[in-house]
Amino acid sequence: MEVKKFITKKINQITKTVGKQTPLVACSGGVDSMVCTILAHQALDKKLQAIFIDDGLMREGEPVIVTQMLRKFGVETKLIRAQGRFFKALRGKIDPEEKRKAFRETFYRLLGEVIKIKKAKFLIQGTIKADIIETKGKIKTQHNVLEQIGIDPQKYGFDLIEPLKDLFKPEVRQLARALGLPKEIYQRMPFPGPGLATRIVGEVTLPRVKIIRKATKIVEKELEKFKPFQAFAVLLADKATGIRDGKRDLGNIVIIRCVDSSNAMTAKVSEIPLKVLQKIQEKITKIPSVVRVCYDLTPKPPATIEYI
Ligand code: XMP
Repeated sequence: MEVKKFITKKINQITKTVGKQTPLVACSGGVDSMVCTILAHQALDKKLQAIFIDDGLMREGEPVIVTQMLRKFGVETKLIRAQGRFFKALRGKIDPEEKRKAFRETFYRLLGEVIKIKKAKFLIQGTIKADIIETKGKIKTQHNVLEQIGIDPQKYGFDLIEPLKDLFKPEVRQLARALGLPKEIYQRMPFPGPGLATRIVGEVTLPRVKIIRKATKIVEKELEKFKPFQAFAVLLADKATGIRDGKRDLGNIVIIRCVDSSNAMTAKVSEIPLKVLQKIQEKITKIPSVVRVCYDLTPKPPATIEYI
């Protein structure tokens, strides 16, 4: 890919498609949506309305980190706090696809409402090729794939612009670099749209999200130096017996997942020294209710990277 040519082409396309209409971009802070937001900003400048939806399923501190980062690039982002809506939609759901659909519906309905208020017509979003292939291949419905599986975005009241839909992650990272985004962004581990919900087996509730958010922070911090494609924690639905203060404690099981990959279509398990894993275990079992920590040895396939 000729990066500079690609950027110019996309900026021209976005400008032409949007015309006199108002466009909205929803940035989640991942490399795909950051690149998408910066491209759209370069094409449309002040005309672009940028929002960040806090769905309550993000990593710690994310809303502030992302909105501040975008400000450095001249993008003013409106923060929409909507965690209550997402938790309500996910309440009682345990089936992975049902959870994904509940997330998607809530996400796009909310965007539809914002678009109506802002009198916008277009939603610009950073869907990439792997999202589309996996969803069309019926592995799982990635939250941001609509038209490609027959969902008309007009159902939610907008048209879609997806400038990155023909690219895989390594190309998006190249673009991010060329656009001047900092290393923390272009080297950032992918974080799925439905966020921590993809790392919770069973029901997504606020107390369960709090556990996995803490565990995620520990895993990311300790494994970052190995430069994996992704490293995160997962909360299982089952409980296991442990010992706390000399007494039996039936508690939570947390999985450490760490994989190497280039485009997320396949992945192999990272070979992390046992000592490092043990250190992570010690930290995670300090989280109240967690009694057991395991390392996932499964490549993709047969497993997927996320757990739902
Ligand atoms: P899986 O779990 O299918 O994940 O092996 C492949 C890659 O896609 C990310 N992922 C998502 N990204 N919306 C996203 O934006 C989603 O719904 C979604 N589901 C999975 C995952 O983190 C991995 O990088």
